[in-house]
Amino acid sequence: MEIKKVGVLGCGLMGSGIAQVCAMAGFDVTVLEVEQKFLDKGFAGIEKSLGKLAERPPEKGGITAQQKNEIRARLRGTTDVHNLAHCDIVIEAVIENIAEKKKIYALIEGVVKKQAIFASNTSSISITELMTATKRPERFVGLHFFNPVPLMKLVEVVRTIATADDVYETAYEFGKKLSKVPVRTSDKTGFVVNRLLVPYLLDAIRAYEEGVGSIEDIDNAMKLGCGYPMGPFTLLDFVGLDTTYYITHVMYDEFKERRFASPPLLKRLVMAGWYGRKSGKGFYDYSDPNKPVANKL
Ligand code: 3HC
Repeated sequence: MEIKKVGVLGCGLMGSGIAQVCAMAGFDVTVLEVEQKFLDKGFAGIEKSLGKLAERPPEKGGITAQQKNEIRARLRGTTDVHNLAHCDIVIEAVIENIAEKKKIYALIEGVVKKQAIFASNTSSISITELMTATKRPERFVGLHFFNPVPLMKLVEVVRTIATADDVYETAYEFGKKLSKVPVRTSDKTGFVVNRLLVPYLLDAIRAYEEGVGSIEDIDNAMKLGCGYPMGPFTLLDFVGLDTTYYITHVMYDEFKERRFASPPLLKRLVMAGWYGRKSGKGFYDYSDPNKPVANKL
């Protein structure tokens, strides 16, 4: 089947990024949100990102002013689920909460045409469990993108035991059309990236708790010693400590292994509402976003 029209559920950080890359790849995109104010916020983020890309030369992934206008014209926001009826694929990127995700799949099931593929951008929830909220388990896959979506080249394409071969291949090819590099993975919690990344991030917190080094020194060690673009604490704050904490629960629940268990400090930060960059405070203080200062924890 050919994908022409894309629906995106949720216009947060991930949803708006996914909508942007789909529109940049030439697809018509409709983004659903519960309230106009969330669409406005997400579209402002897209505008900012397109602005940055317009400043780059074409050989570094830059776009022209005309391309920017064309991309904008392919994107529209809506609060009416009926506007998703003719989509060929719907990618869900709502809050990482099983009940909320299931609720929205139940809502769109009767509206979106039967041949359409449903995909979830979940980072940790079982694709198999989400698919049970629909009547199209064979047309259900995971498409897991990475933050910031316009820049990160990877998409994990996740299949369940029920996913039809042609649906999976269509989703895989769709990933390529978005100028991403798709990797094939099965529905095991965390897929490839979070399976390896989460224990590393949690170990960095444990190392700090045990006095191995300061926040800045551990960050610098991994940046300069291993060539990582961000140290673990900068990355934790970037991903969101609440999001990471949620993922650790799902992964620990699945595997019952200590490497996926949340260290006490992560729990304390989340309880205090220090979620990282988005709340202005996490392992670092972002009072001046250009000059984060490590907190004394
Ligand atoms: N859209 C467009 N352009 C953007 C952008 C965006 N959203 N964000 C940054 N840029 C541009 C900047 O303008 C800059 O452009 P220039 O080179 O023309 O000046 C360029 O990207 C580089 O940005 P910065 O100089 O601000 O910063 P960096 O060089 O550090 O790059 C980064 C930023 C690409 C985010 C890099 O730090 C990085 O790769 N970090 C790691 C991110 C990562 O690991 N993400 C995965 C998280 S895990 C996840 O998402 C899974 C989930 O399930 C938890």
